[in-house]
Amino acid sequence: MKHHNIYKLPSHVAIIMDGNGRWAKKRGLPRVFGHKEGAKAAEKAITFASELGIKYLTLFAFSTENWARPQEEVNFILKLLVDYIDNKLDSLVEKNINLRFLGRKEQLPQSIVMTIQKAEKETSNCTGMNLIIALNYSGRAEIIDAVNKIISKGISSVTEESFRDYLYFPDVPDPDLLIRTSGEVRISNFLLWQLAYSELYFTEVLWPDFDEEEFLKALYDYQNRERRFGRIEI
Ligand code: FPP
Repeated sequence: MKHHNIYKLPSHVAIIMDGNGRWAKKRGLPRVFGHKEGAKAAEKAITFASELGIKYLTLFAFSTENWARPQEEVNFILKLLVDYIDNKLDSLVEKNINLRFLGRKEQLPQSIVMTIQKAEKETSNCTGMNLIIALNYSGRAEIIDAVNKIISKGISSVTEESFRDYLYFPDVPDPDLLIRTSGEVRISNFLLWQLAYSELYFTEVLWPDFDEEEFLKALYDYQNRERRFGRIEI
């Protein structure tokens, strides 16, 4: 294991893995090649974050809006995820990584649901890094689902703290750092509630090129941020 002395390590890092399509296009390759390289980059980031001792890593793999892409591309991305689980589940358990999927499971094909449930079950006793893969996820949908749960319970008033209990993973702390690759400077309906005070880091690097060195750059940048949560320095 490599040793990096990272002071002020964020406890929760969330990543919008963007730019796979452009990475492929630049090379004259079909978009799916970019996703294939993107999955390798995801694997690299997962291993590195776990080695560094990051407690929570959330990766945006597939948004509810992504269904609008050509069926072939959608199937390819979902297949990449299933292959990742099929090939890496044992190694995740070995690394003591707990894997959970964030998002609406209802609209996913049954075969995917079975694969992700198996992965969640087999890593449920792992106490190392928490790996959260956002799949069929939408930040607004998560908030709406929370509101509907509250209404169905007949609860007439909530606070910011009690509202959190109705989000998908109430036990997960808000991200300290959000990374987005490929030069886009948007949140794109990712963890809308949870990103309220997160530090945001944008890089031009396309996701397939995001390696350990690029990850470290984001972490070093984070170290130099001053997090005030609306307060002032005294
Ligand atoms: C964004 O690039 C990427 C996606 C929508 C898919 C991300 C999925 C993976 C990297 C596979 C996940 C695998 C694991 C193991 C977690 P884009 O296609 O929007 O790129 P573009 O903006 O250049 O077109």
